[in-house]
Amino acid sequence: MAPLWPCILVAISGILATGTPQPRNSALHHLTKQLLQKYHKEVRPVRDWSEATLVNLDLFVHAILDVDAQNQKLKTSVWYREVWNDEFLSWNSSMFDEIREISLPLSAIWAPDIIINECVDIERSPDLPYVYVNSSGTIRNSKPIQVVSACSLEIYAFPFDVQNCSLTFNSILHTVEDVDLAFLRSREDIKHDKKAFLNDSEWELLSISSTYQILQKSTGNFAQIQFNVVIRRHPLVYVVRLLIPSIFLMLVDLGSFYLPPNCRARIVFKTNVLVGYTIFRVNMSNEVPGSTASTPLIGVFFTVCMALLVLSLSKSVLLIRCLCDEWHGGQERPLLCLPGYTDADEPRMEPRAQRAGVTESSICQEHQDQSGTLKEVWSQLHSINNYLQTQDQMARQETEWLALLYRFDLLLFRSYLVVLGLYAITLCSLWALWSGL
Ligand SMILES: *[C@@H]1O[C@H](CO)[C@@H](O)[C@H](O)[C@H]1NC(C)=O
Ligand SMILES: *[C@@H]1O[C@H](CO)[C@@H](O)[C@H](O)[C@H]1NC(C)=O
Ligand SMILES: *[C@@H]1O[C@H](CO)[C@@H](O)[C@H](O)[C@H]1NC(C)=O
Ligand SMILES: *[C@@H]1O[C@H](CO)[C@@H](O)[C@H](O)[C@H]1NC(C)=O
Repeated sequence: MAPLWPCILVAISGILATGTPQPRNSALHHLTKQLLQKYHKEVRPVRDWSEATLVNLDLFVHAILDVDAQNQKLKTSVWYREVWNDEFLSWNSSMFDEIREISLPLSAIWAPDIIINECVDIERSPDLPYVYVNSSGTIRNSKPIQVVSACSLEIYAFPFDVQNCSLTFNSILHTVEDVDLAFLRSREDIKHDKKAFLNDSEWELLSISSTYQILQKSTGNFAQIQFNVVIRRHPLVYVVRLLIPSIFLMLVDLGSFYLPPNCRARIVFKTNVLVGYTIFRVNMSNEVPGSTASTPLIGVFFTVCMALLVLSLSKSVLLIRCLCDEWHGGQERPLLCLPGYTDADEPRMEPRAQRAGVTESSICQEHQDQSGTLKEVWSQLHSINNYLQTQDQMARQETEWLALLYRFDLLLFRSYLVVLGLYAITLCSLWALWSGL
């Protein structure tokens, strides 16, 4: 049996080869040959030279790949389609086995030289070698393009920003007398078509409005079609990662105003908040887009918050310094700072301070002696009395200073409230603008 197999296979393949004459394929070959034999791709395919070739354009935005505010570049993935008529590529389909449509190599036929004006970089777009031609000579060419286009990006309202970038198509050489442009679909259809758009990106496609214009240049009149791609950012991720943490940190710092201004713990508290805020900003510095042309409002807000933090910390340092100065000349005077909550490390610190011979008064590290006897209280009161008597003049000056600082404290507290309020109002109005579109 085994040696028979090759013979059977040869016989079957012979039957298949001779039994199917492949008329479609040969007709296709015949047609392609006939179409391209006398074709000159250098010549614009019109019988009457004064007639313009009408190129119909269509555009689908597929995805927003990158919005680079620093370099003012937008990278989009679009599906581009152009349709034109070639008067030399038509045939009578009943003479060619009812073939209505064939594909031809793009390199073999005339094609319009349409470019995107804003294009600054050619990305990897597949070079599709074929176009479809139907029997009346209509050529359809469609290709996906990754366009890196120059666009004036407005990041002032980040993360509630809306961008309006245009893609302008025109023939690089041919004037409107030779190559004219038109829309393939109605402009309303183009405007609201979001079917091809990938929804789960950072950006949402709002609309693609389009205009047809004739541009007058010194070299002639050029037809151009402009698509305005309007996109808006999904702000939620930035609200969660940027806005809310920064507001929380400011609220925490606002809480420090409930500590008495002369309390040393306040400095520690404020320093911690400042360090926290700095770490937060360093971490998030890549999240906020920046450009030389404009700064996002939220960046300005962060800086103002930082300035407030630094200002109030310096004020606290100044205040404590003033209070400490007071005791340099005289005895210690207890200033009450959080009578209920004593510093946990105070008992450890005081002996050390004494050992080091530091004359820092207990004012600076709130003095709260648990085993305070009447005698000690009396001696303290006495020392205050002494102090007031000996340095009355100086103390009055100091008190004025202190009053000023307290007033400043109140002022700072109010500016915190004002800044936070302004921030909230601004965000709300930006959000309202954003959602109104
Ligand atoms: C196409 O060819 C068929 C048969 O040869 C003929 O009857 C018909 O008129 C032709 N049509 C055109 C549009 O030339
Ligand atoms: C070729 O395509 C064009 C545009 O799609 C259409 O108007 C025309 O009827 C088609 N011709 C044939 C023979 O199908
Ligand atoms: C986008 O910009 C174009 C001109 O640059 C303008 O005509 C169009 O109205 C703008 N669209 C929106 C939604 O702002
Ligand atoms: C995106 O959402 C729109 C409606 O919101 C829908 O019509 C469209 O099919 C979606 N696109 C994709 C790719 O899922």
